[in-house]
Amino acid sequence: MMPEIVAGSSHPGMALSIAQSLGARALFPVVEKFPDGETHVVCPAVKGTAVYVQTMHPYPNEMLVEMGLTADLLKELGASRIIAVIPYVAYTRQDTRHLDGEAIAVKAMLRMLEAAGVTDILSVDIHLHRLGLEELSGMSSIKWHEVSAVDALAKEAGRFLDKPVVVGPDSESERWAKRAAELLHSNYDVLEKHRISPKEIEIKPKTMDVKGRDVLIIDDIVSTGDTIKKVIESLRAKGANKIAAAFTHGVLSGEDAAAGLYRAGATYLISTNTINNEFSRVDVGPIIAVKLKGLL
Ligand code: R5P
Repeated sequence: MMPEIVAGSSHPGMALSIAQSLGARALFPVVEKFPDGETHVVCPAVKGTAVYVQTMHPYPNEMLVEMGLTADLLKELGASRIIAVIPYVAYTRQDTRHLDGEAIAVKAMLRMLEAAGVTDILSVDIHLHRLGLEELSGMSSIKWHEVSAVDALAKEAGRFLDKPVVVGPDSESERWAKRAAELLHSNYDVLEKHRISPKEIEIKPKTMDVKGRDVLIIDDIVSTGDTIKKVIESLRAKGANKIAAAFTHGVLSGEDAAAGLYRAGATYLISTNTINNEFSRVDVGPIIAVKLKGLL
């Protein structure tokens, strides 16, 4: 039986893209706000598996509450399984306790969604810098699944660049840099990044021969843009030719994030539509749909 694709308010277009790829029905609940700020959700009845699509941007907390209310509602309305498709999943960077008394936010989020009836989470290029998918799945009864947009990003970047060297900003980005280099029949390297404080990072320079070469920087998230900006500056200093930055999630927090990257010397910015932005050149809907078929 085909699943019902239920759109959260953050990304109805993604729900439609997934529904069209699967040939399934898309439902668009009415999500409104009461004058005091409470969220109010009304959804048609569903049967069988519900695929609930909600990206967690630009208001992750709002989206989380809406997700909890809607999942609980879907369960009451008749869904037997609720797969939350969360193309950009917030809170995964808060996966460890660095300070005494600090919340492990991703675990808390999972327990809330579990209580609401979510059985699976499917996301794109998840920020798995310390934990793996299995460890995330071990935090609650919710099973995690992942797809990657790197192939599509590399293909898109390949249209603009000539045999680019692929660069990852830190060791955690190596899995994406390696894959992109394979697809572009090129070589790759990863830099060393250290976080000095929540708002300050340092990228260690590396001896890399990029003089006169096109370069593709690849990463999962661009948030403030500081990481990529520092990488671009060091590549420019080494005489790189065209520089493209491709990233799955364009959080682009701060009005100057994208402009800052251009000022630093970026030639192209390419992202997916896990978060819609002006650089969204890759639709992850069909990629998600293929994975969903295997989960049903
Ligand atoms: C961190 O390890 C991630 O992979 C990204 O590099 C990071 O989240 C980017 O953040 P920002 O754009 O604020 O430097």
